[in-house]
Amino acid sequence: MKNLTKLVPPLLAFLAFILLSIYYTALTGGISGGQAETVRMVAYYAVQIGFWITGAHLLNVLLKIFFWDTIVTRAISGKVPRLLIHFVSLVVYLMAIMAIVGYVFHKPLTGLWATSGVMALVLGFALRNMILDLFTGLAVNIERPYQIGDWIQLNMENPASQIYGEVIDINWRATRLKNEEEKVFIVSNSLLNNYVITNYTYPDKKIRFETQIHIDHSVPITRAKRIIKAAAKKVLKEKGFFTEPEPSIVISEINEFGIQYTTRYWIYPWKGVVPANARDQINSSILEYLAFSGLKPGFPKGEYRLARLTKDHHEHDSIEHRKEILRKVSLFDPLEEHELDEIVNKIQMKSYSEGEHVIQKGEEGESMFILSEGILEVSVNTENGSMHKVAEIDPGEFFGEMSLLTGEPRSATVTAFTSAVVYEIKKEHVEDLFRRKPSLLENISFIIAERRAENQMKLENISSQRQQSIDNFANNLLKKIRTFFA
Ligand code: CMP
Repeated sequence: MKNLTKLVPPLLAFLAFILLSIYYTALTGGISGGQAETVRMVAYYAVQIGFWITGAHLLNVLLKIFFWDTIVTRAISGKVPRLLIHFVSLVVYLMAIMAIVGYVFHKPLTGLWATSGVMALVLGFALRNMILDLFTGLAVNIERPYQIGDWIQLNMENPASQIYGEVIDINWRATRLKNEEEKVFIVSNSLLNNYVITNYTYPDKKIRFETQIHIDHSVPITRAKRIIKAAAKKVLKEKGFFTEPEPSIVISEINEFGIQYTTRYWIYPWKGVVPANARDQINSSILEYLAFSGLKPGFPKGEYRLARLTKDHHEHDSIEHRKEILRKVSLFDPLEEHELDEIVNKIQMKSYSEGEHVIQKGEEGESMFILSEGILEVSVNTENGSMHKVAEIDPGEFFGEMSLLTGEPRSATVTAFTSAVVYEIKKEHVEDLFRRKPSLLENISFIIAERRAENQMKLENISSQRQQSIDNFANNLLKKIRTFFA
């Protein structure tokens, strides 16, 4: 509305000159005397020139209101460059001047056309980058390969010139990106034609990233994959990671460092978690899990290391490896070296594949276990009989102690969340030790009490949530029934 009022003065001026040119003869007819002819002539030219100039002005105002300020502004979602508006209005006035020369003064226009053609060429050449920026900016706004808030990467042939960041502004001349280091990149639109644009936010926010690690050739592939997968799955609880699709581990290369394993995981990049931080978390977890299993990342081999290789990378179930595992179990901290040796020879290694039960609730149980590799899940039955996960067991933790010590049936089901390796310790192998070392029993009974309390709390929480949802449902139903009968 405010804009339309701007239209009134030029429109009135133009209408006035139309009326003047129609009634020009009637208005100047009354003039008499010696100068009458000259006055009529001047009046004629003035009216005609006024008609073209006010017409050009009206056209420019119309363009501003109905083209620049609406259609173009919307298309490029930003302000239209004033330079461009001025350039176009200048062209309109030049056309009006040419019309005056041709139609009012009846002079040939060929020379003027030639001059203006050259001028247009010079101007177009001088402003070519700006014009290219504008049109690419228009294309970006119409095609929308990215929007404000998207994380994009611009790839040139040369990897060094890769730029990425969040789109913070798109205007007629440039697109602005800001990365997690708060660095702002201003990429002029005309340059975008030379980039391949990767959009990390569109159409889906789930993006797969990967990280590589080498493990020595002597480590069995299933073992390496099991450890890496457990390590990767452990991180999925963190912000920005997706549990589905689950991480996959593939062999990507075999070289002098060992076997290269690539871990693929899905994240919501930058908005959920910065990819570099996600890689850091996955790598750290892998290193931690490898260290626990007595493994190191692969290194290039020289002959001087060859003699140690087989020993260094432990046979999977060697006595040393068992001892190392037992030493990491805090429960056994009070044990002397010879007491550890007593158990080491008797424990038995067992492997489970993903989803397999290690312990089932209600079974009789006369042994406890130590998790060596993988992750396990502990679940208990809720009131309505469904299973509910109450805890996770990580390498170095023990389980199955409740039945072993109390003689009661297994209190929970323990399932392999990833494929897993455990060591089983039978009652007869530790009975004597427990009797001799009462501090062991104290520690263990404290842990049992803690675990029981934790399970109890979780179950009560579920049943209160269930009760709450029954109450809500009943209330809503009652409301509906009341409305129906009202
Ligand atoms: P047991 O009852 O012999 O068999 C199931 C085992 O699950 C149990 O011993 C514990 O070792 C283990 N368990 C039960 N609840 C938890 C918990 N909250 N955290 C860790 N382990 C648990």
